[in-house]
Amino acid sequence: MSTYLFAKDLISPSVASELPKGYTLRPLQKSDHAEFLSVLTILTKVGDISFETWSARYDWMAARNDEYFVIVIENDLGKVVAVGSLIIEKKLLLSPLVLQVSLHSHTRALSNGDEVDSIRNCAAVGHIEDIAVAADQQGKKLGLRIIQALDAIAQQVGCYKSILDCSEKNQGFYEKCGFKLAGVQMAHYY
Ligand code: ACO
Repeated sequence: MSTYLFAKDLISPSVASELPKGYTLRPLQKSDHAEFLSVLTILTKVGDISFETWSARYDWMAARNDEYFVIVIENDLGKVVAVGSLIIEKKLLLSPLVLQVSLHSHTRALSNGDEVDSIRNCAAVGHIEDIAVAADQQGKKLGLRIIQALDAIAQQVGCYKSILDCSEKNQGFYEKCGFKLAGVQMAHYY
């Protein structure tokens, strides 16, 4: 039985329809262990992660499947060739959009009951992480499709923005994906 890390219907059909012929976009599966880690080696040192360790972390994420969204693209041979992750951060403040509606509602009656409900909701921000496309698959817009699919999930689960950190050499790629420079990355390693 094939089970997915999160609900498959969160994958945008319109983004999936733009993939090369025979390629598919889907949520991560536990059985992706070796192929997922192999694709990630292009981005970082992965180390020797046993199936048991992988499996335990997969189960942990699956129990939080409204917060952890890891997706993959399979090629026409069924091999994982591109990966990406979205992690949802729930804030203790209202999103700019909700604030706008909230302020506006002082001067006019709300025409839509949904807006009243949304005012009670706190903001959510998407964090995009671990984007990687296998070396022999780059340049086919797979990276772009991964980002578009994660963006679509972020919007569906109520994020008002998504953010990411990247090296300068990838800035142009993310600009092509619609992101713009907004701040400076800092790190404190322990
Ligand atoms: N700089 C500028 N433009 C770029 C770059 C780049 N480094 N890479 C791709 N582009 C452009 C392409 O030319 C294309 O432009 P076009 O629409 O005008 O033709 C557009 O961006 C989309 O390119 P894709 O074909 O979707 O890119 P690809 O599938 O090759 O994926 C990626 C890009 C993810 C950066 C890939 O090269 C990769 O895996 N690199 C190694 C791992 C890595 O650095 N990942 C990002 C880490 S940052 C993070 O995870 C948040």
